[in-house]
Amino acid sequence: MGRLVIVSNRVPDPHELAQPAGGLTVALADALRSGDPCLWFGWSGRQMEFEGDPAPNVETHGSVTYATIPLTPAQHRGYYQNFSNGILWPLFHYRLGLMSYERADWFRYLEVNRLFARGLASMLEPGDTVWIHDYHLFPLGQELRNLGFQGRIGFFLHIPLPPWSLFRALPPAEPILRSMQAYDIIGLQTEEDANNLRGCFEAEGLSGADRVRPFPIGIDPTQFGADARLAFAGEEVQRLRDSVHDEPLIIGVDRLDYSKGLQERFLGYERLLTRYPEHRRHVTYLQVAPVSRGEVEEYRLLRRQLDETIGRINGAFAEFDWTPIRYLTRPVPRSVLAGFYRLADVALITPLRDGMNLVAKEYIAAQDPDHPGALVLSHLAGAAPELSEALLVNPHDADAIADALHEALTMNLEERKRRWTLLDNEVRSTTAGSWARDFLTALDAADANVDGQTPA
Ligand code: ADP
Ligand code: G6P
Repeated sequence: MGRLVIVSNRVPDPHELAQPAGGLTVALADALRSGDPCLWFGWSGRQMEFEGDPAPNVETHGSVTYATIPLTPAQHRGYYQNFSNGILWPLFHYRLGLMSYERADWFRYLEVNRLFARGLASMLEPGDTVWIHDYHLFPLGQELRNLGFQGRIGFFLHIPLPPWSLFRALPPAEPILRSMQAYDIIGLQTEEDANNLRGCFEAEGLSGADRVRPFPIGIDPTQFGADARLAFAGEEVQRLRDSVHDEPLIIGVDRLDYSKGLQERFLGYERLLTRYPEHRRHVTYLQVAPVSRGEVEEYRLLRRQLDETIGRINGAFAEFDWTPIRYLTRPVPRSVLAGFYRLADVALITPLRDGMNLVAKEYIAAQDPDHPGALVLSHLAGAAPELSEALLVNPHDADAIADALHEALTMNLEERKRRWTLLDNEVRSTTAGSWARDFLTALDAADANVDGQTPA
């Protein structure tokens, strides 16, 4: 048996206790707890000028060896900021109007994928299994094949994948889809995403639809529940609890990203205060939204818009002894967040689109079974099909958010327990560990597909 080799753009920093927010590294780190030796290759998070190929920085922590390379500022801008996060991210979240395409960025994207392939190929051994993650690295499998790697290569996409009618707006749609022929298994979060990718392959006359399967991702609910119990007794939760004086607390936790529907969510909360005034001066909404991709223009604009919306709502509704919205844009350690989830009576999670949304699963895992809170969840989150016992809402409908919040805030204990028990069963049935095992079992059973063609 060879090693498992994981490749992703973002790699957790083994020296940092507080990791940047993001579902990919969280789920993979949980999945790797099995202790089998593994190599994790990716970007170091640093930008620097270099000539020729940079040597990977290699460090081993426990069973995982991290090998990372830096990017030049021009590569970081073209590959990461512009192509991955200014083109693929909006399009794949169904926001065609936010996509701003430049051919030069596509060339940078290919350049960095080739750089990754050369850096990784020098470390690969025959028999290794390679598992590539997310939209930054679609062509990487093909580039490894071009360098002669013949082992199994799997790919998992953590974000949604739009139908062909949208996908075809991407100028390099065809070479990206063609490069995916190099994968032995392609995993997506939901059946809807898998069907969309099959449709894209068919529209381009490409084979490979039989290699596409949904593998919904999960968390480590047992560990997270234990973290939540521990944090609940900690100082931060105590301070938060003292500050709300036994009044209801709503929590939202998201990277500061337009896909998370934060603006729409604040308007929904405002509608609650307008239409159900009995909650004024009682309820508190705590939104934790760490800044993400702050160098990308759309993210900067969103931040300003949210500052304005929150300022306006707080200005209009606050009393001298009550503030309706508390808003934090700095990261909070996940171990502390776990305690906040346990304390909160309601979680408000309303992305306009989301690959899965792990925060929804974390909220469920963090609850006290004797006094569980209620989950208000967007029906457009990848987690919604599994978490159908949540109060599902359309995140574009402020009145629907207000009604669901009111229902959540007034739900009796018996109904909260009934829903939570079913939700908790779901969260326990697909964990980060079982997700990785299921994917790798399917990859192991696949025939290595070494005859993929070179992309244009
Ligand atoms: P995405 O991957 O789009 O960021 P997810 O909800 O799937 O969305 O995953 C986000 C992950 O990041 C969760 O595991 C969550 O606990 C973590 N996270 C979110 N906000 C913070 C924060 N402020 N500090 C630390 N971790 C966070
Ligand atoms: C999502 C993506 C990940 C990404 C994370 C954080 O979860 O699927 O690939 O790592 O967001 O974004 P960032 O740009 O900071 O890596």
